[in-house]
Amino acid sequence: MRDRALGSRNTRVSTHASAARAQVWRAALTSAALALAACLVTGLVTGPAFAADAPAAAPPAANAPGPHYAPLSNGLAQTPPMGWITWLQFAEDINEPLILQTIDAMVANGMRDAGYVYVNLDDGWQRYKGERSKHPLEFDPVKFPHGIKYLADYAHSKGMKLGIYSGPGESTCAGYTGSAGHEVQDAAMFASWGIDHLKYDSCCSHKDAPQPVVEGVFRTMSKALIATKRPIVLNACHCGWVNTWEWAAGVGANHWRIGQDISDDFDYPGNREKYYFDVLDLIDRGVGLEKYAGPGHWNDYDMLIVGLDGKSPWLVGAGASNVEYRTHFSMWSMLDSPLLVGADVRHLDADSLETLTNKEIIALNQDALGKPATRVRDDGLVQVFAKELSDGSWAVALLNRGSATADVTIAPRKDLQLEWDRYGVRDLWKHKDMGPYDIPFTTEVISHEARILRLWKAPEPAAGKSASAAVPGAAAGQAPGAAPLVAERTSDH
Ligand code: GLA
Repeated sequence: MRDRALGSRNTRVSTHASAARAQVWRAALTSAALALAACLVTGLVTGPAFAADAPAAAPPAANAPGPHYAPLSNGLAQTPPMGWITWLQFAEDINEPLILQTIDAMVANGMRDAGYVYVNLDDGWQRYKGERSKHPLEFDPVKFPHGIKYLADYAHSKGMKLGIYSGPGESTCAGYTGSAGHEVQDAAMFASWGIDHLKYDSCCSHKDAPQPVVEGVFRTMSKALIATKRPIVLNACHCGWVNTWEWAAGVGANHWRIGQDISDDFDYPGNREKYYFDVLDLIDRGVGLEKYAGPGHWNDYDMLIVGLDGKSPWLVGAGASNVEYRTHFSMWSMLDSPLLVGADVRHLDADSLETLTNKEIIALNQDALGKPATRVRDDGLVQVFAKELSDGSWAVALLNRGSATADVTIAPRKDLQLEWDRYGVRDLWKHKDMGPYDIPFTTEVISHEARILRLWKAPEPAAGKSASAAVPGAAAGQAPGAAPLVAERTSDH
């Protein structure tokens, strides 16, 4: 895996952003840079406030058995969290009507019933900018006149949940007061408000802190949350630095970012603004990390850009095509990433809503086995990812990264090491069953598409009869009729 030692947002250039965006970001980054500088000046990045729960000075030998702490667990997020979050479309421009309208929209447009139950406030709900040692952590009474508990109560009354954001520094990435030194107090406040999810963000405050320090600050907040006895899912947001995946589950984090911030791009050359990852960057970043994820603890590929269409006033990126957004959504589902939608769900176009509510794709993400897809074949521009499912079937993604349509073949014996003589195939975007087959299956995959297929073992036909394949899981009730034992070459785009 490529190790990306990249620039931070504090040093990035804005050559590709519009002038307006650049101006907005300059202001935001100036405050973030000032906050970071303030942390450094006061010694808090490496000082005792962060060392409180860090490992002893001499870490255990590399080959010492077991974790050097008793692992923490809150028992939550047995499947990846699904919901919506403010940051990508709204940044700090958030308020009470937006949250209430978003909850109503998600109920009305079917998103809640498709599984998107979290409505999460990101940075910008706080009253004060500056250091926590100089200001308390309170909600902004202008943005949220009835407070945060009011929002949580409303979300709960609609069968949804409310998330909030803070960080272990003196201040957050957008320059608001953080939780440094007040973790127990803040966790108790969040619990008293009825909060269900916390994004705890160390990307700016601890950008250069060593791994034991970062691990320590997450452990401190994790313990504080568990002590409240309220079920609060913990997102360890450290931009994929210091191999977060290796230790985050042990400190009780339910998901952790594997990379820097996503931009609204499918395949931008290099890293946009020398910082952002696009969809393909994040997929590459996750290869080999699947072994760290499972029920209760997930690799987080960052928020979903489906439906942003390059129009967010805050986020960089030119947007992606409908096919590319589908590929992004399909791959996040295959890889068991949390599915946190970033677009304005009050005004989703029909294609985006259809993408986000495809129940057969969501079923892969929410499968009880909790085994993320692995990349089983890398032919350069064409890659194959496979995910085992709890009912014995397999989901396969045929990803075409290239600019031309490709014929892609999948062979369960060769690619998945399955001793299947006959198998059925269901296309989870066309909602169509094919087969059964007894030879490899070949299909067309257009540029930037991920064809998502669900494969299952088909029974042997009874003597003298042709067989129907029994359709698993989400496809139940639409069993295919008998079909010839020939590999189909589909081209029905
Ligand atoms: C960091 C995170 C983002 C977002 C912002 C908020 O950049 O990576 O996801 O939370 O901070 O300031």
